[in-house]
Amino acid sequence: MNDSQPGRSTVAVHGPLGRHHPNEPVVQPVFQSTTYVAEVGAEREVLYERYGNTPNQLAVARKYALLEGAEAAVFVASGMAATAMAHLAVLRPGDRLVASRWIYGGTRRLFDEEFGRFGISVTYVDPDQPRAWRKALTRNTRAVFFESPVNPTMRVVDPKTVVQICREQGVALLVDSTFASPINFRPIEHGADVVITSGTKYLNGHSDVTAGVVAGTQSVIDEVTRLARLWGSTLNSHSAWLLDRGMKTLELRVERQNANGLAIAQWASQHPAIAAVHYPGLPSHPDHELASRLLSGFGGMVGLVIKGGPEAAERFLRRLEIVAHAPSLAGVESLVSEPRLTSHKGMSAEARAAMGIPDGYVRLSAGIENAADLIADLRHALDGV
Ligand SMILES: Cc1ncc(COP(=O)(O)O)c(C=O)c1O
Repeated sequence: MNDSQPGRSTVAVHGPLGRHHPNEPVVQPVFQSTTYVAEVGAEREVLYERYGNTPNQLAVARKYALLEGAEAAVFVASGMAATAMAHLAVLRPGDRLVASRWIYGGTRRLFDEEFGRFGISVTYVDPDQPRAWRKALTRNTRAVFFESPVNPTMRVVDPKTVVQICREQGVALLVDSTFASPINFRPIEHGADVVITSGTKYLNGHSDVTAGVVAGTQSVIDEVTRLARLWGSTLNSHSAWLLDRGMKTLELRVERQNANGLAIAQWASQHPAIAAVHYPGLPSHPDHELASRLLSGFGGMVGLVIKGGPEAAERFLRRLEIVAHAPSLAGVESLVSEPRLTSHKGMSAEARAAMGIPDGYVRLSAGIENAADLIADLRHALDGV
């Protein structure tokens, strides 16, 4: 073996490298067992699925930590569980969380509806205003959170100022990097302390596993693991095995999704039935320059504003034949959904518009299909709008 660091695809396939042994399985089997025989009288931690320490759970966590450049990681039952456990690991009653205003609707509801019960207050900041971060940090601020790229507007947050302020004040920085995956962006390389990712999305990539993961220092991950055990939210071994398999093709899939996302965004920006295209790879995107510096790829997520509002958007969605109208994203199959009825349901049209999500906004997740076929499907559907 040469001494240089293995590439991301090699890590995604193999995890930590080591010599092969005769007769060992090339693929780690699923250990479909909730419990393991323990040595009588031994003090050593017993293996139990809810503890998150079975062979499949440990293998996938190790692989993901290597991909993020983190000391350690732990998988939990969903992206929401990862967000909840990560924050509860670093915040205590009386603490303040300073969060970006541009976040996934589920995360916003978790902060607004649940954190108060734990005595944690939340202040929201427009993340493109560097001074706003500094102003928002008070003496009791213990953590800062942002998501990037943002669901569903595809805005990109610059970590530079936030990292600097967090370091000065000794505050933990948590970043939800779901839309990027470690192929397009690795927050720890930019100074984040904790990475939160919905494994349901790019990591697994096949729309058949719900999972979440937290990566960071060993001490943070030990605390997240302790909480996940107590709150019963670790990921089961079978899902961990499926995720491990999905992750083997992570780089290949994401590269293709980056290419498909860009092709669709470029095509859509010329289409007369589309009022606006939100994609960081387009020069017209407000964060294009930042995204070009920060990201290794612009991603497979594209925001399309269909002219004619929700009625026109619905006509468009009904006519699609390859792209499926379904929530979630980042799988090999292309999906599309309307934030007004999913992630941002319950908000007024005005409030959504103020967040950059006008009526008629559809969020497209490019899969790995042939780009020309996807564009033909979108063109045909738009013809009937
Ligand atoms: C950016 C982001 N974070 C977290 C989540 C939550 O993930 P999960 O659905 O796996 O709980 C989502 C889900 O859409 C998301 O888009």
